[in-house]
Amino acid sequence: MRRGFLLALEGVDGSGKSTQARLLAVSLLQQGREVVLTQEPGSGPLGQKLRRYLQGADRHLAPEEELDLFLADRREHVEQVIRPALAAGQIVITDRYYYSSVAYQGALGLDPTWILEENEAFAPRPDLVFLLVLPVAQALARLQRPRQLSEFPLYLEEVAAIYHNLQGSHIQRVDASASPQALHAKLLARTLEALGEFGEERQG
Ligand code: TYD
Repeated sequence: MRRGFLLALEGVDGSGKSTQARLLAVSLLQQGREVVLTQEPGSGPLGQKLRRYLQGADRHLAPEEELDLFLADRREHVEQVIRPALAAGQIVITDRYYYSSVAYQGALGLDPTWILEENEAFAPRPDLVFLLVLPVAQALARLQRPRQLSEFPLYLEEVAAIYHNLQGSHIQRVDASASPQALHAKLLARTLEALGEFGEERQG
């Protein structure tokens, strides 16, 4: 039976997910909790292949083929990292999860609802999702690296629009324009609250 807690961070490139995922993991570890910090695309061969593809100048795959690669990577991530950690009662923090496929491959023209269903057929639903919300222009201004094709403003506006339409009581939208420390304090407080409720539910 599943006992751990699954937390996903989502948002457009440059919204600060990776920094916040790390800060949360450190704070929870300092409280003596068992935490696994992970990310998508994953760190296995498939994930590395995907990262190389995303950084390349040529985004030649059809949207369906791209989605298939992300799904394959996620299947591996779920089986090898997420499910074992949850079964061991750990807190899993993932920097991107299946809502990234919904938003990014949805922005290529695939149906977001269908992408969601394909994912929820095998991937456990997160207990909590922080959706970091930041205007695309601000998010892009923060990136200190050469732009990937996935970071073109018009494309990211579409990604942001799909994120905006996501529904579910487990999805919390957070204004990501605050300083990293202020944002961290807010996310940590909300995580502890959710963990408290989660613990009570398990006992009750
Ligand atoms: P990102 O978190 O920006 O990785 P990095 O740590 O290298 O900065 O993710 C890489 C890109 O992958 C990002 O532009 C979003 C894209 N992506 C998808 O298009 N679909 C997906 O399912 C996932 C997980 C990521």
